[in-house]
Formats: sequence, C-alpha cells, structure tokens
Amino acid sequence: MKIANGVLYIGADALEQDLFEGQYILPEGMAYNSYLVKGEKTAIMDTADEAVAAKWKANLKDALEGRQPDFLVAHHMEPDHAALIAETLQEYPGCTLVTSAPALKMLGQFFPGIDPKVQVIKEGDTLDLGGGKTLRFFAAPLVHWPEVMVSFLEEDGILFSADAFGKFGALGKCGFWGDEDGDWACEARRYYFNICGKYGVQVQKLLGKLSGLDIKVIAPLHGPILRENLSYYLNLYNIWSSYGVETEGVFVAYGSMHGGTAEAALKIADILKAQGCPKVATSDLSRDDMAEAVEDAFRYGKLILAAPTYDGGLFTPVHNFIHVLQAKGWTKRRVGLIENGSWAPQAGRIMKDMFSQMKDVEVIDPVVTIKSRMNEADIPALESLASTIIE
Ligand code: FEO
Repeated sequence: MKIANGVLYIGADALEQDLFEGQYILPEGMAYNSYLVKGEKTAIMDTADEAVAAKWKANLKDALEGRQPDFLVAHHMEPDHAALIAETLQEYPGCTLVTSAPALKMLGQFFPGIDPKVQVIKEGDTLDLGGGKTLRFFAAPLVHWPEVMVSFLEEDGILFSADAFGKFGALGKCGFWGDEDGDWACEARRYYFNICGKYGVQVQKLLGKLSGLDIKVIAPLHGPILRENLSYYLNLYNIWSSYGVETEGVFVAYGSMHGGTAEAALKIADILKAQGCPKVATSDLSRDDMAEAVEDAFRYGKLILAAPTYDGGLFTPVHNFIHVLQAKGWTKRRVGLIENGSWAPQAGRIMKDMFSQMKDVEVIDPVVTIKSRMNEADIPALESLASTIIE
C-alpha cells in the first residue's frame, strides 16, 4: 500500500492474536505497522511482531522490488516492532541498523551475540536517503519506552510516530486510513491510557516538539494511517496527555458479590441521570474489560466507585482497579465512594487510603455505607453524593 511516492506500507495484521502485551484483549486483532522509504537509498522503518513474521517478510521483499535495503530504522526496541531485527539483518547483510543509543543497549538483551553495522542517531539528526527523502529524528523517551525515537520525512511531511497515535485493532477490521475508521477514538483511547497513560508529561513534551512541523500524514506503528483532519487526533492526544476531561459526566464502577453493591451503584447512576448529569457510564469490574474501565476513568472527570468489604479488606476486583489506576498515573479527578459490609465495613477506608496516595485526586466525604442491601433509608445519602459530585 502506497502512503506517498516512495513510501510504502509493509506491515501486517495479526487477526487471531487474543492479547496485546499479554494482557489487553484484542476483539479485532492487532496491526503491526512498518514502512519502506525508497529514495536513492532505502530505509525499512521498523520490523514487526513475530506473529506476523512471514507476512511482513513477504511484504518487504515485494516492496523492495529486487533492491537491497540500506538502512533498518528501529524507532523502538519493544518486540512487537523489533522482533525481526536479527533475521532482517541476517537476510540483508549490507543493511545498517539506525537506532538510538539507549535502544542499542537493549539490542543485545533481545538478540544475544548480535553485532550489526550501526548508525546511532539522536535528537535532531538527519538521515538523507537521497532522491528527496530526508528523515529527521526526535527523541520520544517514555512514549512509551525510554529509547523511543520518532522521525519526520521532511519532503513528504510524514511523521513516523512509533506507538503514539496507535490503537488496538487490525487494519483489515478498522480501515487502513484513519478517515475510514468510524470510531478511531474508542480503541485509540483504550490503547493510549493503558499503554501510555502514565507518561502524559513525556507525551506533552513530544507534542511540543512536533508542534512546529508541517505534518501531513501520521504513520504510527499500530492502527490506521492518519492523513485528514489531523487536528482532531492531535487535540485528543493533548487532552489525554494533560489528564484533561474529554467527556463531561460521571463514571460509576462497581464490584459486587451478591448484587447488593451493584444495586446501589446502578441506583446512583439513575439518580445522576435524573439530576441532569450529561453522561453516565457504568462498569461491573468483575465482568467488564479492566482496560476499558481504566479508559473510562480517564475519559470522565468524575468517578463513583462502589465496593463490598471482603475478607476484612477490599473486594479484589475493585482493589485491582484502583491499583491499575495508580500504576497508570490517574490524576486530576474527583471520586465518590460507596462501601458495603454486612458486619464490619472496611472497603471505604481502604479505598480512601489508596486514592490518598494519588496526586490531585479529591475524595468526597462522606463515604456512603450500605449494610448488606440498599434500602429506602440509603437513598438520601446516594442523592447527596450524586449532587455533590456533579456540582
Ligand atoms: Fe507497540 Fe511500545 O510497542
């Protein structure tokens, strides 16, 4: 697939892959993007995941049309893009590996004994392929590993953005170009917050560096290639990486052993709607995708969390959820809490303690306590929590 004159897509879809990074479900598979830039010299822009090795190698061979690659640019050393580096350099011994110094340190860890021809690049370096194809490199540390670089093909305005602007899903499912993807933000948001959520500061720095470039196409390592209405994607990335509120509303998440806590959580969701809350989303943390719940916790500015007490502590699915939020750097949010306990409720205290360790997270007092099952006497407390969180 042609991205521009002399710039070809050589990536591949892993349609059967069930998990990304061994934990994120892939209902529509995953795309491992890779590109070939052909000037007077040729540069492969990243390899791909082992899962698509045969297809990627065939695509590369076709795209080369008998030429030998001069450079293999490795923007990112994570195996979903770098798994085929050793095989590629073996297949094309004249090829020089172009990568950052921190990536080079990792290379031998993934490929013991490898000793390729290397050109180390750093921020601001250029690689002139001739024929009007000049790559300029920018460091993108922690977007989302420390060694990451992105590059800009100056004459064509193509940003090779590494993991940034990626999403879950195979291109054969969601569309090759971003404008064919009816709901880009849905899986891009789940991808962003679960993969890069912790690194908002670093993503902001990268956006700052890119702001002066005349970008015409964003070519990420996952997901569709973006070529129209780029301000839409850039604006979302700016909101996400600054921990802004994308959608006004409240996310109600709950765990429930026997339905009592769920009943209270769904009741407060109804109360919020009745009070005029613009959007109310809910999630059963025992059943729904955790990564989706994390995404929604970042999407909305406000969270109500309801949990039973369990083994004298906090119900495990809710504990896990808060733990992931903390790991992902969840911040700048308001939380309301509902606890349940039949004899010695502890969930509220533990949830408060966990949220108190996060930066700029306000927990609303008081915690609403349900004893076993919600009853009519609990409604005023739920109404009060609802009105306080949306005020
Ligand atoms: Fe798609 Fe950080 O690798």
